[in-house]
Amino acid sequence: MRRVILAILRCPKCRRGGLLPESDVAELAFGPIRCPECHASFPVGEGVADLVTERGVPGTLQRGLEQPLVARSYERYVRPALQVAISRRRFDRDSEYLIYRSLLGKPDGPVLDLGCGTGLFARRLARDPEVPAVVGMDVSKAMLEEGVAQAREAGVMVDLVRADAPYLPFMDHSLGGVLHSMSLHLISDATRLFIEVGRALRPGGRYVASTYLPRPYLADWVHRRAGLHPRGEDEIRSAIASAGLVNFQRILLPPFLVVKAEKAAR
Ligand SMILES: C[S@@+](CC[C@H](N)C(=O)[O-])C[C@H]1O[C@@H](n2cnc3c(N)ncnc32)[C@H](O)[C@@H]1O
Repeated sequence: MRRVILAILRCPKCRRGGLLPESDVAELAFGPIRCPECHASFPVGEGVADLVTERGVPGTLQRGLEQPLVARSYERYVRPALQVAISRRRFDRDSEYLIYRSLLGKPDGPVLDLGCGTGLFARRLARDPEVPAVVGMDVSKAMLEEGVAQAREAGVMVDLVRADAPYLPFMDHSLGGVLHSMSLHLISDATRLFIEVGRALRPGGRYVASTYLPRPYLADWVHRRAGLHPRGEDEIRSAIASAGLVNFQRILLPPFLVVKAEKAAR
């Protein structure tokens, strides 16, 4: 984990202090990071900071996303299969990325790939000269382990953090943008998440998310059982607005929705 990312981490326990390594290093591969405020300590292994404190019971789909075999085959098989199962078509990944990238604009600080999975988009962002730095965050250990291997193989620098949204372990006004692809429907408290995004973004920073829309023929209990929280455009727009984010835009690609909003520039 590079210093530029270490410098923006915030303690997930007291939500006040920064997280410091034992000595001032340019990059930390192994070793603890500590909060000077509450003295909590978190491990860093293979460059990945594990900032999960306590967690509720994950839903069925999420449990699947935490299996090593699923993580290993996620990019090639699982992701395309999930998209076909949901939409009966396969999305072209390059076009999907270009939509996100154009909506993110020109970030003025590190970009967070929230719910990054194995980091398929984080790696692309990391190669973009207009993106100052990229940090991927996911709660799944297996996805992050695969993410480390994939980034190494691709020869790109992506810092990874294990943490549990909706809380974001980043300082106020520290992020230049947040990409949240295909994961918003896995977050139960979206209102809290949008407040957190608004807190952590720098003025003018953008939030770009894609999500699966509610399917009218699927009963609520099917979604609940799977641990899915699909929301319609109106619900998302109003939660985003009440979190203080502005300039909402959306692209409808049924059954998916892509949204963009930003923190007002000062
Ligand atoms: C369907 S995958 C999407 C991965 C990637 N963004 C993509 O577009 O393929 C959803 C990811 O969100 C992660 N996730 C789910 N709930 C989360 C939470 N509360 N905090 C952080 N990550 C979460 C899962 O572990 C999984 O890797």
